[in-house]
Amino acid sequence: MTKSIITALACMALVSGTHAQQSGLLRVKADEIMAEMQPTMYGIFFEDINFAADGGLYAELVKNRSFEFTDPMMGWSQPATDRHSLNKNSGSASVLKPTREHNPRFCRITVHDDEKYHLVNEGFRGMGIKKGETYRLSFSAALKEGNITGVRFQLTDTTGQVLASTSVSPDSTGWKTYTSQLVAGKTVPKAQLKISFTGRGTLDMDMVSLFPANTWKNRANGLRKDLVQLLYDLKPGFLRFPGGCIVEGRTLEQRYQWKKTVGPTEQRELLINRWNTEFAHRPTPDYYQSFGLGFFEYFQLAEDLGAEPLPILNCGMACQFNTGELVPMDELDPYIQDALDLIEFANGTADSHWGKLRHDMGHPEPFAMKYIGVGNEQWGPEYIKRYKAFEKAIKEKYPEMTIVSGSGPFAEGEHFEYGTDELRKLRAEIVDEHYYKPPAWFRDNAGRYDSYDRNGPRIFAGEYAAQSVAIASPENRNNWECALSEAAFITGLERNADIVHLTSYAPLMAHVEGWQWTPDLIWFDNLRSYATPNYYVQQLFSLNKGTHVIPATLGGKALTGQDELYATASLDRNTDDIILKIVNTSGRQRQQEVLFEGGNVQSEGSVTILQNDDLQAENTLNTANVTPVEKEIEVRNNKVNIALAPYSFSVVRVGRK
Ligand code: AHR
Repeated sequence: MTKSIITALACMALVSGTHAQQSGLLRVKADEIMAEMQPTMYGIFFEDINFAADGGLYAELVKNRSFEFTDPMMGWSQPATDRHSLNKNSGSASVLKPTREHNPRFCRITVHDDEKYHLVNEGFRGMGIKKGETYRLSFSAALKEGNITGVRFQLTDTTGQVLASTSVSPDSTGWKTYTSQLVAGKTVPKAQLKISFTGRGTLDMDMVSLFPANTWKNRANGLRKDLVQLLYDLKPGFLRFPGGCIVEGRTLEQRYQWKKTVGPTEQRELLINRWNTEFAHRPTPDYYQSFGLGFFEYFQLAEDLGAEPLPILNCGMACQFNTGELVPMDELDPYIQDALDLIEFANGTADSHWGKLRHDMGHPEPFAMKYIGVGNEQWGPEYIKRYKAFEKAIKEKYPEMTIVSGSGPFAEGEHFEYGTDELRKLRAEIVDEHYYKPPAWFRDNAGRYDSYDRNGPRIFAGEYAAQSVAIASPENRNNWECALSEAAFITGLERNADIVHLTSYAPLMAHVEGWQWTPDLIWFDNLRSYATPNYYVQQLFSLNKGTHVIPATLGGKALTGQDELYATASLDRNTDDIILKIVNTSGRQRQQEVLFEGGNVQSEGSVTILQNDDLQAENTLNTANVTPVEKEIEVRNNKVNIALAPYSFSVVRVGRK
């Protein structure tokens, strides 16, 4: 966060010299608690879309490491231009599929001329390699015939220049795993892995894997450090995973099944990613789920982030935007069992079946999971029927578990009304609502929850993002207008923290060359990543949520867009700070006098401002146009006069005496 401290600006000095419009007095009452802020108020929603897992957060650099893609040699090439016109004189590679249960294929390589033959893996839009960093190589191999005595691995740039090299001597006719390391001599965003051989003969290879040693917490099979750091810096209250529509699948066969994502990585059965083919305008034929980032790793990530894990499971319905396949009610049991078993996996003791697996994977302690989501964006009576069956079974065995249900993909209308009415009747605990809407909708709906039933379910604003053009348009931008409009809307979420218990922007991440959906909170390439203006909005709310909501009123009313101003306030009982968030969505400079009531406050405080005069402003990999700036402010007689810049989001913090 950019932090420029402007010292001791007297409140009158803030006013003088400006021709800013002065609003009335904004009163913040620290002694009137409106609601307790849930620790889960601001969380993150990880969805495996846009190369967010394989090719993104999951730090594996080799694409199609186990030769299981539909085209088994996708990502791999051989000499003589491409794999369709092999130089058969030098050697060949073909993929065989024996009758092994999981990930059955492997690559059989025959080398005739070891001077000329090699295999190359292109990585996910190349491999990002950093000078001086160590890369961990591993692969399985079995010698079949001939005298291949060495396998050499080189990282090369696109011109063929060698950046790092290591050799391994295979010595077994049975499958054996080999490991080695490479140290990169240069930073290159699009390196590739070249495999060549010493000697001639035939060798089988599988699970060819390359990871940076420098992953988050230096874990093997680890996650990209810069991306986890960005998540960590949000201090999220929960981590919802793994989606999204990916949970549902285009068909039931292609749904997300958590049991296939745990245990040894080589046994996690690969699946085509549903976003591979979803949008004709953004095809991503090389998007698959290796599940190297599986449910164990998601739970571990949640733990690392200090966030409550919130897994969402398929409820016996495929995506209703696709096939909408349904599991008949009398065949739903295995789906329900998956949910019960997941709770055992997360929380069970080491002598339970699934608890033992978690223990054996290296986490003896339970993950202390408290929430479970049933379905993603389902709608209609079939969902309600299935939800009831899940709820009954989960509550019977795990009454302490909080169940998250869904109101479908729409923020209003027939499906939304039906779902929310039924769930209210069922006394559902938490209902997930989604809004992918134009920026103006977010500004106009800051009062959405002010009139919600206080006796109904609690709300999870589980997926939202302002769409600058239209939902699913590839032209959508993460611009300042969208982020500012979200900030205006979030003041309404926070003011209603008595019923809004969880919120998350969506989607979370996108590779600049591998995305299907925009806008997204965080963008990255193979080496770099950046936070969007929307990210900073989330971060400012999250880091300044406080512990209790208190009133912030002008003329006796909450600011929900009057004169294009929005506000919410909270008290942080841990620090005894009063926190006021004000959003000015107008293009006018304003002066806002604020009175802190309910006890005296310190004479100095701070204001953190996110602002840009240009509503189209964006951040990029190379430029940071919208970032928070912190300044000191002076408070006199419990009053401060805040300069609200055009198109700004300000967070004021003052300590109580
Ligand atoms: O975030 C993109 C998609 O939007 C999610 O997968 C789905 O839940 C919603 O429709």
